Amino acid sequence: METSAHDILIIGGGGAGLRAAIEIAEQNPGINVAMVSKVYPMRSHTVSAEGGAAGVAGADDSLDEHCFDTIAGSDWLADQDAVELFVNEVPKELLRLEHWGCPWSREPDGRIAVRPFGGMKKMRTWFASDKTGFHMLHTLFQTSLQFGTITRYDETFATRLLVEDGAVRGAVAIELRTGRIRAIEAKAVIIATGGCGRVFPFTTNANICTGDGMALAYQAGAPLKDMEMVQYHPTGLPFTGILITEAARAEGGWLLNKDGYRFLQDYDLGKPTPTPVFKSMELGPRDRVSQAIFGEFEKGRAFKGPYGDYVHLDLRHLGEHKIETRLPMVRELCLKYENIDPVKEPIPIRPVQHYMMGGVHTDINAATPLKGLYAAGEAACVSINGANRLGSNSLGELLVYGARAGRNAVAYVQSLRGDGSRNAVLAQASDEERRLEHDYLHKTGGTERIAKLREEMQHTMETGCGIYRERNTLIESGNKIRELKDRYRNVAIDDHSRTFNTQMTAALELSFMLDIAETIVHCALNREESRGAHQRRDFTKRDDVKYLAHSVVSANAEGPPRIDYRPVVITRWPPGERVYGR
Ligand code: FUM
Repeated sequence: METSAHDILIIGGGGAGLRAAIEIAEQNPGINVAMVSKVYPMRSHTVSAEGGAAGVAGADDSLDEHCFDTIAGSDWLADQDAVELFVNEVPKELLRLEHWGCPWSREPDGRIAVRPFGGMKKMRTWFASDKTGFHMLHTLFQTSLQFGTITRYDETFATRLLVEDGAVRGAVAIELRTGRIRAIEAKAVIIATGGCGRVFPFTTNANICTGDGMALAYQAGAPLKDMEMVQYHPTGLPFTGILITEAARAEGGWLLNKDGYRFLQDYDLGKPTPTPVFKSMELGPRDRVSQAIFGEFEKGRAFKGPYGDYVHLDLRHLGEHKIETRLPMVRELCLKYENIDPVKEPIPIRPVQHYMMGGVHTDINAATPLKGLYAAGEAACVSINGANRLGSNSLGELLVYGARAGRNAVAYVQSLRGDGSRNAVLAQASDEERRLEHDYLHKTGGTERIAKLREEMQHTMETGCGIYRERNTLIESGNKIRELKDRYRNVAIDDHSRTFNTQMTAALELSFMLDIAETIVHCALNREESRGAHQRRDFTKRDDVKYLAHSVVSANAEGPPRIDYRPVVITRWPPGERVYGR
């Protein structure tokens, strides 16, 4: 087996991973960084973020207001120390990106332009047209190229973390082009692999979002946090799940049911209130808007399509000029994937899985409980998002906590005395090589098909663990996932070649997703309340007495995952009611 050694290994080449790599290189040019990414970094899922990144910019806004919006949006499950840190740091990070070349959209007088976003009281979302993720990722990638101390392993798939003596010591990974298995030793590892949307059938997430880093950490003994908190974005295209950015509603788009009626006025988001805390309607927080659309489905006021019910997002009244200048990608996506022009026709949309509020449990230093292991971005749960993330907080989060992960990994590596024994680490790597060869590359005789198992997993997640949940369906989903895990042992691998063996990659991704799906279902079953994106039909109220707490889930060789709870950090904003209206 090939081996290589670095000081810090980053798994994931998207926004969080690249920001961490740059931070490390800037902090200490003597530190040798490796970055493993299963795709070329510019193909990471950050590239598809559209609407923008929130950060206080204007004199009419304040850090406290951004904190409050985020905390209320999270249904008080966010840790307030983590939110304060994020809100303070994010404007500096966005400005730093500007200096590195990010082409933020501007006002005519040259100032940075900001747009409103769901659940935010003030306009504070910086954007680069509706291709914000693309421009941010490009900026980070080109900046990372300046540093000779960053070694990239592109198109390389990490399969296992190496842990010795209670500390992480690297990872095993497969180079996809050659099938070569490599042990990459490191003194610290940063997980930055993004989300796990592919656990669900309809998602805005790319095919690569299979929860790899979450599963690697979980299998290595690091717990995951708040995994029941799954965000549905209100406006995905019905078949592909492709994101139609919230910016479309920020620019003035309306949601209409099959009668052409702006139905949100019938829900709390549209009720006239004497002192609404948030101006809502289409710019309500995502959990509430998705739940309202689902309400229209249930009342029979939606359209019926081949992929289920849908409603309309209408942009026609914005006019061609505004759509072309502010939402060009929305138009392009609609033309290419739905064959409709939003200048002339309303867009069919439905809520689709979009984001995981949960992830690898970290503290505000991006450190996990496993020594030497850090996590940032969507793969991590620090937690600033609690039970519902506000749109445009995640791009800022990956910058702030990506940089923090890099900084703290450097401090950790510098504090180590001696290199530790390599023999045990390399022996583990050899075990992993044997497992990969035996279970995948040389495997014969399996009868279960990967696609069938994956489809059954996705189906049970959507029906049992979607926008609304309840005990019986959650138990059914939990049993189904167990059954699928048993059947997975008999999965067929027909391709034994080593060059871009996508069947093997799909099988490995499926095994990661099954672990992650199990944690989502069990955490959802255990949380007997409704909060944010977690809506239980059988426990419809928020219960702060029992559940003002994060679920922390750990792998358990003997059976279902083990779930513990840890209190939410409250600093200055005691739990209150989320009041929306207009
Ligand atoms: O709708 C959007 O543009 C998504 C933004 C986000 O998830 O932050």
